[in-house]
Amino acid sequence: MMVTIKTPEEIEKMRVAGRLAAEVLEMLDDLVKPGVTTGELDRICHEYITEKQGAIPAPLNYHGFPKSICTSVNHVICHGIPDDNKKLKKGDIVNIDITVIKDGYHGDTSKMFYVGEPTIMARRLAEFTQQALYAAIDVVKPGARLSSIGKVIQQLADKERFSVVQEYCGHGIGKVFHEDPQVLHYDGYTEKSDIELQPGMCFTIEPMINAGKRHCKLLKDGWTVVTKDHTLSAQWEHTLLVTETGVEVLTRRREESFS
Ligand code: MF3
Ligand code: CO
Ligand code: CO
Repeated sequence: MMVTIKTPEEIEKMRVAGRLAAEVLEMLDDLVKPGVTTGELDRICHEYITEKQGAIPAPLNYHGFPKSICTSVNHVICHGIPDDNKKLKKGDIVNIDITVIKDGYHGDTSKMFYVGEPTIMARRLAEFTQQALYAAIDVVKPGARLSSIGKVIQQLADKERFSVVQEYCGHGIGKVFHEDPQVLHYDGYTEKSDIELQPGMCFTIEPMINAGKRHCKLLKDGWTVVTKDHTLSAQWEHTLLVTETGVEVLTRRREESFS
């Protein structure tokens, strides 16, 4: 396994890419409402990223992915493909996942949006998943073990009787979209696969939490991942930098404060 340590120059570029990705999510706040299609949201993001930000939407053509963002509605866990025929309706919850490339470096982040009023269960699941991400970010610092991230998330989920998706994980990020290490959101490392976090490492944490069982199914389009039991799923993601003293959230939005 080859985990890159970013130089100060690279870190500055990661900060820029992270901020741009966060700004796309901020821009979407007023647009995700009943009646809009996920295809329209994709076009708006594509134009914003390419024209306003002078950046590249990383998902477009990535291993053949056909759109610029991922939109995962209700029981879709991740990698939902934006679609002009998919109208969002009151009560839906949707994860929108944005990855931009700026000056060769990636910023990757996602959040849950409510379309109108969510059900009590949908809100509980989405809020829980955000808090699980925040609790995991809290353990990131030099000297901590990579495995502590998944342990925290798994423990919180067990307590709520939610389940943690195991087939997809967070990842190192930089010049490459998905690089080492794999960041598991459950307690799944061995003594040998676990590593110690060091200043200059950049990676994402992006837990996918299901209201029902953890198992997933890949649809015939080759991308869309859904819960096998069709229960709701939620996901939140940030790109992080391990600093000398702790962690910097490179994709922090204005509404968020980290201590
Ligand atoms: N943004 C996703 C992640 O968090 C990856 C999307 S890859 C795509 O890693 F091809 F589906 F877009
Ligand atoms: Co990611
Ligand atoms: Co992402």
